[in-house]
Amino acid sequence: MSTQSEIVALYPYKPLAGQKALVTGANSGIGEAVARHLAAAGAAVAINYVVHPEVAQAIADDIIASGGEAMITAANVGSEPEVLAMFGEVLTKFGTLDILVNNAGLQRDAPLTEMTIEQWNTVISVNLTGEFLCSREAVREFLRRGPTPHSSALGKIIHMSSVHEVIPWAGHVNYAASKGGVNMLMKSIAQEVGKHKIRVNSIAPGAIKTPINVGAWSTPEAEAKLLELIPYDRVGIADDIGKAAVWLSSDASDYITGTSLFVDGGMTLYEGFATNG
Ligand code: BGC
Repeated sequence: MSTQSEIVALYPYKPLAGQKALVTGANSGIGEAVARHLAAAGAAVAINYVVHPEVAQAIADDIIASGGEAMITAANVGSEPEVLAMFGEVLTKFGTLDILVNNAGLQRDAPLTEMTIEQWNTVISVNLTGEFLCSREAVREFLRRGPTPHSSALGKIIHMSSVHEVIPWAGHVNYAASKGGVNMLMKSIAQEVGKHKIRVNSIAPGAIKTPINVGAWSTPEAEAKLLELIPYDRVGIADDIGKAAVWLSSDASDYITGTSLFVDGGMTLYEGFATNG
């Protein structure tokens, strides 16, 4: 991932100035990059974490040292009381919220016949229920607060989905089911709140080098195998998603709602069909 000062240099025009953002699961991987990019683009950013407050605090300190604004806030997004407490804390410190990035997500992989109910429930709870709970609280706040001079929209929600909202994934049925659910959650919320000028979209990343999939890219052999799935012929990095999140949060995408933006190097082009079928 780029350094905070490199990221700051990408956004001299500060498209998110004056706005407040909450990024869930923001102390590693894609969430960290999204938090760093939103902050560099001018938003005050709340960094949600579950464990390792010192890591979240180091990211916040880095943002602040580069002239940005940041806070940290603990919550397991699958827990309603914890989500309510987190929103209370963020709204108290920031006054309101303009951008929610529902990023927190995890994998608990197993073949179907060996998958436990705990593995199923953990993934559905964080990846799907968490996105419902945080979206509900964000929309409540957007409606309470009303329009601002900082954005054409009343508020923006970005769901972190996956290419697996459309690509079935053997050995990961809990994860793929959660991301398929995120797709309809996103679209249904977008349809419901569009009249309030709230924009709701997903980013659907492909293979991005983060801790969640380290086994898929950390050796040259694994990376070569992974590249067979990616027409653009490079594995993604978290900055790729941070840049997309800034654009999707900004008025540059003001007429876009209810869509999934695939940031996947073409993984959803099913490269296997280039030489088969
Ligand atoms: C998963 C990664 C995987 C990627 C492409 C993501 O949603 O979390 O583990 O590498 O999809 O398959």
